[in-house]
Amino acid sequence: MNKAKKQLIILVLIMCVVTLFGCAPKEEPSPDPVPEEEERVEVPAPKDMILSAEEWKEKYPLIYESFMRTSRMKDDTVEETRLGGLHPIDYLQKYPNIKVLYEGIGFSKEYYAARGHYYSLVDVVNSARPKPGASCLACKTAAWEKLNVEYGSKAAAKDFLETANEVDIGISCYNCHRNNPGKDIQVTNPHLINALEKNNIEFKAGTLACAQCHVEYYLDKESKEVILPWDKGLDVEDIEAYYDEMNWFDWEHPRTGTPLIKVQHPEVELYSGSVHDNMGVSCADCHMPTVKENGESYKSHWAKSPLKTVEESCAKCHSGGEDALVAEVQQLQQKVSELEGELGQMLVQLIEGLSEARESKRLEDKTIQELQALHRKAQYRWDFVFVENSTGFHNYKKAVETLEKGKEYAQQALDILEK
Ligand code: HEC
Ligand code: HEC
Ligand code: HEC
Ligand code: HEC
Repeated sequence: MNKAKKQLIILVLIMCVVTLFGCAPKEEPSPDPVPEEEERVEVPAPKDMILSAEEWKEKYPLIYESFMRTSRMKDDTVEETRLGGLHPIDYLQKYPNIKVLYEGIGFSKEYYAARGHYYSLVDVVNSARPKPGASCLACKTAAWEKLNVEYGSKAAAKDFLETANEVDIGISCYNCHRNNPGKDIQVTNPHLINALEKNNIEFKAGTLACAQCHVEYYLDKESKEVILPWDKGLDVEDIEAYYDEMNWFDWEHPRTGTPLIKVQHPEVELYSGSVHDNMGVSCADCHMPTVKENGESYKSHWAKSPLKTVEESCAKCHSGGEDALVAEVQQLQQKVSELEGELGQMLVQLIEGLSEARESKRLEDKTIQELQALHRKAQYRWDFVFVENSTGFHNYKKAVETLEKGKEYAQQALDILEK
């Protein structure tokens, strides 16, 4: 039995015990003790969960300190702890097109760039975008597993703000290690445990940890539970096919009437199958390299841009100097950015044209539907690359292919509108 399966079973068992007796399981010695080496993964009872990173400060001072640096921005300044503090990167100003593309949802009103793990809870609380339930906390707090043990499948639909105040803690060691930092990675997010189990997917430890959050997901319309759309695979087209088959849409564009998919940070999905993934490089290898400070080596927990640690993250494979490699990365990102801009512009044209055609009723329903289908496909591809946080670096080839394909769909629609 693989680890994910074990974890799932244990989680389910604990949830059953809690529901049956309305209290945490009693701490009785296991009748059948497992040998030390086998490292059984257990979900601690809620009262025993070590949720605060501070608890590990003495045992792992360097790792703790590096983790706390996720409160810094790229230039090492400490940020004020409120959204849009010293370094607001406001996407709406930078990319005005998205006001049209995201019309009808919160992202057209407020959209800030991601910050470090330290800010996860405060940023989601301060975001003015509407929250359908406590499931928005699944990737923002160390206490998500606790809520799941305590409330079972009802955790997701709990009131967002009330629950956020109740937990009052952001991401910490618990999210990736439970009570055992220094041992292996432990998956605490039920949605990932389910997806791995259902689809027989395995990741290296340094990717597994991140796949709990840096992934595309949707919320079940009723229970609000987080679900990963991976049944057909992790590729851009696989996820689209999954959503198409269930007629899923996150919202309808108010003027074109198109049922659209809103993609969310698909880092793991874009990364899979890339040059680096194929070589066995994990997310943590680049983003959390082993670093040396004052003669001591440790695994940095300051998850941030690897361009700040090229020596430690890249130099074992790439020779030729730091500056040249950074320039190469930026060149690729520049190209991806240009393509995003081109496709974004075409989408604005498509949206304006389709809205006009609908309003004037100059086209048959069948043609409108065909245009809406093309709009959905093109915008999904634009969104997939745009909201992925590496500006295409994680899988340059795939990012370019995806945007080119998006442009083809958008062009087909524009050609129909021209006629
Ligand atoms: C976002 C996920 C994540 C969080 C949060 C996290 N870690 Fe880790 N940790 C990792 C990963 C990934 C590794 C490397 C695992 C591997 O490659 O096998 C690791 C490794 C470690 C190791 C082993 C180091 C080594 O040199 O092998 C220790 C100790 C550790 N973490 C402690 C902590 C402590 C203490 C905290 C909280 C202050 C913490 N971690 C928070 C993901 C995380
Ligand atoms: C429990 C959920 C969770 C896990 C696990 C997690 N992340 Fe994150 N990560 C987030 C959230 C949420 C943000 C955005 C925080 C904000 O904007 O306030 C973020 C932001 C980041 C950023 C942007 C930092 C910046 O300064 O711009 C990087 C880089 C990152 N994560 C890398 C990783 C890596 C690598 C892993 C795995 C080792 C990982 N994360 C695991 C939730 C998570
Ligand atoms: C080969 C090295 C490498 C690997 C592996 C890698 N990344 Fe990245 N990642 C990068 C680079 C380079 C950037 C762009 C940083 C920049 O523009 O400053 C980036 C950007 C990011 C960002 C945005 C950071 C920011 O500061 O805005 C996040 C979040 C992120 N990666 C998460 C992940 C996750 C999750 C994985 C695993 C699925 C992963 N990365 C795998 C190199 C890597
Ligand atoms: C385990 C070895 C390894 C590590 C670590 C690694 N790379 Fe690579 N990288 C490669 C290989 C191999 C290729 C493919 C070379 C080729 O096709 O010419 C590659 C390709 C690239 C490319 C070409 C773009 C592409 O997608 O094909 C860039 C840019 C790049 N790496 C940047 C980085 C950066 C930046 C880091 C650190 C953050 C990094 N790499 C870490 C091995 C590595």
